[in-house]
Amino acid sequence: MVTVRAPATSANLGSGFDVFGVALDRPADVVRVEKAEETTIEITGVGAQYIPEDPEQNTVGAVAEALDAPAHIDIDKGVRPASGLGSSAASAAAAAVALNELYDRGHSREELVPVAAKGEAVASGDAHDDNVAPAILGGFTVATPDGVSRIRSSLALVACLPDIVVSTRDARKVVPDSASMDDLIATVGHAATLVVGMCRGDPDLVGQGMHDPVVTPARTSLIDGYDDVRSAALSAGATGVTISGAGPAVLAVCRTDTRRAVARAMIGAFAEVGVEARAYQTAVGEGATVYD
Ligand code: HSE
Repeated sequence: MVTVRAPATSANLGSGFDVFGVALDRPADVVRVEKAEETTIEITGVGAQYIPEDPEQNTVGAVAEALDAPAHIDIDKGVRPASGLGSSAASAAAAAVALNELYDRGHSREELVPVAAKGEAVASGDAHDDNVAPAILGGFTVATPDGVSRIRSSLALVACLPDIVVSTRDARKVVPDSASMDDLIATVGHAATLVVGMCRGDPDLVGQGMHDPVVTPARTSLIDGYDDVRSAALSAGATGVTISGAGPAVLAVCRTDTRRAVARAMIGAFAEVGVEARAYQTAVGEGATVYD
């Protein structure tokens, strides 16, 4: 039997749509696997009732299939589905690492990223590495078709999750088909600034680099109160705020000493528009961890 914890993640960080991702030190999913003749799945925890246990329809079923590793798989969800916090990626990443260990397949962590992304495709209809890469490797990741790079960084974050649901499929429908040259230049500048900020562990540079003139503005209408929540977080000391992944969670970068105030301000701003929310006071964290 092997047990693995894999963290929530936040994809995009504004300027890195479908490319950037960061591991959060909490919340997380815990997956336990045991060899079996055929794959069966049992799910408990946050939002378990919304996730299919049929291996053909579940992210971890696709991972077991890809690794030719049938198992009984127990998933304890800590990451709410349809949250923008990489819920399906956390399960897929944990399952990939656990099954690789259980069956002694010998794949490296990097090799497990596309395997876990196959599981993601079952949930979102499209394979993206921007959540599974940080869920497996930890830190801040840059995932492109050429491979994945990882930077370890230490940054305080707040992930504020409103009590509304936005599916990745719906959030992708509003993404524009094209962008202007001005927006392209601005996005490259912001993305490069963000990477330098991550390398230096500088919350001001990371915050500056989170701006995105194309995808985020198209999605804000899917999240009631987004503009007010963003303003409230910035007023409370956040250095940058954007939609986490496809939403509805909102991610703020800050300094450790302002994190609590930022979290309160975000919850308060959602409450003002009648939306209940909870905030994770978190930080850039580790990737999937195998328990003894
Ligand atoms: N980058 C994706 C999106 C998140 O924003 O649609 C899920 O991989």
